[in-house]
Amino acid sequence: MQDLAWWQRAVVYQVYPRSFQDTNGDGVGDLPGVVRRLDYLADLGVDAIWLSPFYPSPQEDFGYDVSDYCDVDPLFGTLADFDRLLTEAHARGLRVIIDLVPNHTSDRHPWFLESRSSRTNPKRDWYVWRDPSPDGGPPNNWRSVFGGSAWTFDPSTGQYYLHHFLPQQPDLNYRNPEVLEAMLEVMRFWLRRGVDGFRVDVLPMLVEDAYFRDEPENPRWRQGMPEYDRLLHIYTVDQPETHAVARRMRQVLEEFSAPGRERVMIGETYLPFDRLVRYYGTPEAPEAHLPFNFHLIEDDEGHPVPWDPDAVRRIVEAYEAALPPWGWPNWVLGNHDRPRIASRVGAPQTRVAAMLLLTLRGVPTWYYGDEIGMENGPIPPEECRDPAGRRQPEIPWACRDPERTPMQWDDSPYAGFSTVEPWLPVNPDYPHRNVRRQQGDPRSLLNLVRTLLRLRRDSAALTGGGYATAPAPNGVYAYTRSSPDERLLVALNFTAMPQLLEASGDVLVSTHLDRTGAERSPIALRPDEGVLLRLP
Ligand code: GLC
Repeated sequence: MQDLAWWQRAVVYQVYPRSFQDTNGDGVGDLPGVVRRLDYLADLGVDAIWLSPFYPSPQEDFGYDVSDYCDVDPLFGTLADFDRLLTEAHARGLRVIIDLVPNHTSDRHPWFLESRSSRTNPKRDWYVWRDPSPDGGPPNNWRSVFGGSAWTFDPSTGQYYLHHFLPQQPDLNYRNPEVLEAMLEVMRFWLRRGVDGFRVDVLPMLVEDAYFRDEPENPRWRQGMPEYDRLLHIYTVDQPETHAVARRMRQVLEEFSAPGRERVMIGETYLPFDRLVRYYGTPEAPEAHLPFNFHLIEDDEGHPVPWDPDAVRRIVEAYEAALPPWGWPNWVLGNHDRPRIASRVGAPQTRVAAMLLLTLRGVPTWYYGDEIGMENGPIPPEECRDPAGRRQPEIPWACRDPERTPMQWDDSPYAGFSTVEPWLPVNPDYPHRNVRRQQGDPRSLLNLVRTLLRLRRDSAALTGGGYATAPAPNGVYAYTRSSPDERLLVALNFTAMPQLLEASGDVLVSTHLDRTGAERSPIALRPDEGVLLRLP
């Protein structure tokens, strides 16, 4: 265990600051709110928090439209609040990873205001400007992830600018070296303040095709799929030049790293395994420490992964096989862009999912509220606030509000999140699903997650040991995790039927939290039960 860096042993907890804890009574969470809940996070047993954006922003995409990379939006507090958050987190042994949004700025960022002011402005080329096509329309057929053309016409200078997301999120031009240098300076600004790393937003989208070629039609597109999926994104995503940018970012992290004080780069990388693993770079030219592996969330075509033991096993095996020897694995079940795991698999299987995520090989990222089984908030489509949902009303799951509802701390009004009506409605299930209630219930999901995190922290096999699939009956997925002096078996019953498992050993924990101790083969797994066993 000694040899592993802190980030290899870590469990990361994603805080979506807007929805975690409000302290100033405006219905929106803030940085002092995160500080207030640090004891909770330390007690839960996670090692690092990743904060979604808190920078000054018009909030068109709820902070992923940044108008100043080096400050805090008054909505969330001040730079002094951020510094206090860092100090207080570090005092509790918690690392702090922040969101870096390098692909685009807000259209109100001073860089863009300059860029759009005239064709000869020195910052013109900091963004991607193109002449209209001969018919006056957009320069090519590229589409925005949120629907519509990826190009918006600027009448005052007579050109179109590129935006992979909202028109209010113009894309920076990484073919201009000044842009990369400016973004590296942003990283240094926060590294000097003491952050432990970055989660880099849409890393594979930073560079586009130099020839601006039209993207081909996706032959597998069907009615009901997002409009963005009509094209195969071979010229706007994962261009070879992106890797050079990722390497430069990593070099900046290395400038600020020392043994025990490594600064970490996590990439937001929705890619098939063969292309995903290239974002590790090579030992000589490393890129991200952890290119996010989203394959337990959705497949390469964006369809949700079926909650089926064979499907999950195949994903784990394919990932293990695709990783280069120097690539440290990572797993995630949910985030602020995808439906809640509890809604996807149902309450009984949420415990099985927790055991899976916290016992697979590599770094798990935990989404806030999943430890109490928060479900998608019931938000009627006409009340959706998320621009992705508002622009694609025909796609029921495009609205991301349901997975962003306020954290449910207790059963007081607004769930202890705020004293006033929050920016998104609290899930009405909060009187019975909340942190306080689950803290008082020894068999709650919250206590299962705490137990798993404690076992994981103390186990060389779980933090750094090898993975091997183990034999299991239909409906069960089993695997071993082994270090030189410890062999553990994880057996997960994905069904609502009892199952018999051929294995003997000491039960360290059951997802039902009601048994430990020696068991002889065959072990009876109850419906929806997962067990972690120490093998003799
Ligand atoms: C990433 C973020 C998402 C945001 C988008 C544009 O995918 O996770 O929330 O809308 O980038 O910045």
